[in-house]
Amino acid sequence: MNIAVAHEAVAGRADVTGYFGILKGRAADIEARYRQLTPRSVEHFRREANVFPGGYTRDALIRGPHPTFVERASGAAMVDVDGRTLTDFWFNATSLPLGHAHPAVVAAIQAQAPRGTAYFAPTRHEIALAELLLERLTGAERIRFANSGSEAVMMAVRFARAHRAAGVRHPRSTIVKFEGSYHGSYDDVGWSVSPKLAEVGAHDAPYPVPETAGLAGTAGRVVVLPFNDPAVLRRHVDAHHDEIAALLVEPMANRIGLLLPDPAFLAEARALCDRYGIVLIFDEVIAFRVGYGGVQGKMGIAPDLTTLGKIIGGGFAVGAIAGRADVLDLSTPDHGQRVTHAGTFNGNPMMAVAGRATMEVLTREAFGELAALGEYTRQGLADAARGLPLQVSGAGSLFKVTATARPLHDYRDAATTDKRWEALCSLALLNEGFMLTPSMSGCVSLVTTRDDVDALLAAFRAVATA
Ligand SMILES: Cc1ncc(COP(=O)(O)O)c(C=O)c1O
Repeated sequence: MNIAVAHEAVAGRADVTGYFGILKGRAADIEARYRQLTPRSVEHFRREANVFPGGYTRDALIRGPHPTFVERASGAAMVDVDGRTLTDFWFNATSLPLGHAHPAVVAAIQAQAPRGTAYFAPTRHEIALAELLLERLTGAERIRFANSGSEAVMMAVRFARAHRAAGVRHPRSTIVKFEGSYHGSYDDVGWSVSPKLAEVGAHDAPYPVPETAGLAGTAGRVVVLPFNDPAVLRRHVDAHHDEIAALLVEPMANRIGLLLPDPAFLAEARALCDRYGIVLIFDEVIAFRVGYGGVQGKMGIAPDLTTLGKIIGGGFAVGAIAGRADVLDLSTPDHGQRVTHAGTFNGNPMMAVAGRATMEVLTREAFGELAALGEYTRQGLADAARGLPLQVSGAGSLFKVTATARPLHDYRDAATTDKRWEALCSLALLNEGFMLTPSMSGCVSLVTTRDDVDALLAAFRAVATA
């Protein structure tokens, strides 16, 4: 069965009763219109399917009936291969806070490209970006660059395990992660990311559900706990602290609705790590977009290690691990049993100059602007959704519409969503020229205007309340 047919088969079985049924009853029309608007994307997708499994080389782009292929982009506008202009509300998965092809970033990479794009040598550019990032992260004394958020998480876990192994005979290697949190492609965090509710087990002792085939198992490696529940966290850590290397927290939970956790949850995590010497890792790969100092700056709770990615690379592939010197210095060259971390493109100058140009534009005032427009967008969506079984959530420049009547507090609330409705709503908005994710997540960037947001809100009202 090809992808398009598979999507139709799912659509055919969809429940078309109740509020969500109204849009789902129009699925065939929405998808037919999309095909009609995107004939060249259909052709490209056929070619993709000859070379990539199922037509994809990046899972986040999976969208029925096919993704929209983009030809070029500038500011908040993307032009697809059929010549349609789309207003971008996801900016390569939140990674472009200045929008596409910002003049400062273009100038930086145009200046660097003729000087060479990567050397077997460090450059002054990686120092400049590192200094700038450390200045924004309270308590972080060292940083290392990697090439993706996934790699940053993998390295943070390795550093935490190495730190906790020092001076003990049995390994304290377990990572505590939270149900519904996504931390990238590394195996040890590929558990209970978006499990089916039928498989999750008891709230206070979630069953670790593999997100992907091919994982080696959880024993001695990972434990899953409910997000946002300080009491369950305390009970578990009090009982098992001598097995635990780190608590890995996504301080703005993307798949739970781009939701900021209760401050009490983060405070409990901090207190437990202090009590037992466990490493507290905040995964701010997306969350660093929420404010000048990330969520940790906004909430006033500093982790031991922070993983970064996305915005800090100015549109180039990047990841970083920042944090306490006594943990990250385990990788200094003369350290006995050292943590190793190689990478052909770590800190490469193209990324470093683009990242620096981006972060320099992102002043405190710029974050204030982003947050104000984000709030305006969330408020507009919430007004449109009033009385409907929809949740509007998010923080800073980020927003999400979740198709459930249940207020969001943890993964199990978010998992009651009607995914098919979200995907169809997103596709209907794409037909009107607005790019959000298939799960109705979005963000604004500095190039997004109030007019862009007002146009999105008008289209959302038409789609969601028709
Ligand atoms: C919180 C979080 N951690 C890690 C990652 C992985 O980053 P990358 O896609 O750069 O590997 C992501 C990606 O979306 C993320 O949102």
